[in-house]
Amino acid sequence: MAKPRTVFVCSSCGGEAVRWQGQCPACGEWNTLSQFTDRSQSSKPANRRSGGAAPQPVQGLADLPEPGDRLSTGTEEFDRVLGGGLVAGSATLIGGDPGIGKSTLLLQSSAALAAQAPVLYATGEESVRQVGLRATRLGLGAATLKLVAETSVERILAESDAMKARVLVIDSIQTVATEAVESAPGSVSQLRESGARLVQHAKASGTAVFLIGHVTKEGTIAGPRVLEHLVDTVLYFESDSGSRYRIVRAVKNRFGAANEIGVFAMTEQGLREVKNPSAIFLSRHDAPVAGSVVTVTREGTRPMLIEVQALVDPAQGSNPRRVAVGYDGNRVAMLLAVLHRHAGIALHAHDVFVNVVGGVRLSETGADLPVLAAALSSLESRPQPVDRVVFGEVGLAGEIRPVPFGEERLREAAKHGFRHAVVPRANVPRKGVEGMRIDAVTRLDEAIAALSRSD
Ligand code: TYD
Ligand code: MG
Repeated sequence: MAKPRTVFVCSSCGGEAVRWQGQCPACGEWNTLSQFTDRSQSSKPANRRSGGAAPQPVQGLADLPEPGDRLSTGTEEFDRVLGGGLVAGSATLIGGDPGIGKSTLLLQSSAALAAQAPVLYATGEESVRQVGLRATRLGLGAATLKLVAETSVERILAESDAMKARVLVIDSIQTVATEAVESAPGSVSQLRESGARLVQHAKASGTAVFLIGHVTKEGTIAGPRVLEHLVDTVLYFESDSGSRYRIVRAVKNRFGAANEIGVFAMTEQGLREVKNPSAIFLSRHDAPVAGSVVTVTREGTRPMLIEVQALVDPAQGSNPRRVAVGYDGNRVAMLLAVLHRHAGIALHAHDVFVNVVGGVRLSETGADLPVLAAALSSLESRPQPVDRVVFGEVGLAGEIRPVPFGEERLREAAKHGFRHAVVPRANVPRKGVEGMRIDAVTRLDEAIAALSRSD
């Protein structure tokens, strides 16, 4: 019989190392590696004799049963992030900072789901009374929702089986423990093993399982990233501190588009969906301000208008700072190098700060040109016209490359009253866009010329 595999797993990123080290080789965090013994193969002795899993029949694609209907979580936003509703037998991880609204979202969704199928909400964080009070305060007509304050994975699964639950919520995965491992709840071993058992249950029984996970800065409990590879769908909450908007982003989804986002607002009555979030992230300055540029991104399956801000200021000291919030800092450095090489504009004596308004993270390359435009606008103290949008990828050779769904982005901007666009040539629709003047650019110098026009 094979010996259980022993590895060292990082509690922050889930990376593995064969021996203990002070620093995680994958993410560079210190003191996050802890020993983990993988018993997942040895825990099924009956199957081991046949050399792994039980033999599975070969099936033709055409013979497969029709996929079952997806259940609705009660909000269009959450349904869309899941890929169009909840799939039977799916395992979904939902991570985020403490207090951001994970329990609120899942409680509201559970109440809506409970009207369609049996739902069990297992809470290890709060008492049943607390959750019940919250449900009442939120006005959830959740008479059929079943709650259990339980931290044993085995007992939760037994309850779930007994009531034939079709949806099971674990709040949170860091508070539950399986008897199969001895380590404390929240440790890497416990998280992995409990996660694996719950996912296995989802696949075997067809129950849709949600695992809630707190993202932690300190390494005392393992973060949800340790579980990402186990589940079908990984969702993370994003928010600006102080903002009431909450974005739920699908970073991985076997049943829908990755990067799909759902937008919610935290209110007195819980999370309310924002059905048309296209323009909520614009500050809508009365007068044009330098360093602010509006772009249209496409997150998942819909376009959104987002404001990018930059502040370029003479550096204090010899080490200029490059700080980016909501955007990749390495990409800022790259864009500044392109700006120097291909437009002769040197910023090595300037601090450059970039911020994406509203706590949104821009991960697509269409934000390159807007970031450069915002930096230039700040450097020259020259505001961009308030009715101008900019998008496009910037290449190392100084070329402006097209991005997917150009026409759709332009139409969204036109719908919100933007009258002028600076975009890659290949993104301009042949017939143009009604009510919009479009400057098509292919090179950085053309883009800079178009951006410096004041009309
Ligand atoms: P919660 O869902 O408990 O966060 P998590 O499970 O991610 O830790 O949300 C808690 C926060 O949300 C708390 O600071 C209060 C706020 N909140 C509201 O503003 N309105 C509400 O109706 C609810 C239920 C919570
Ligand atoms: Mg909670």
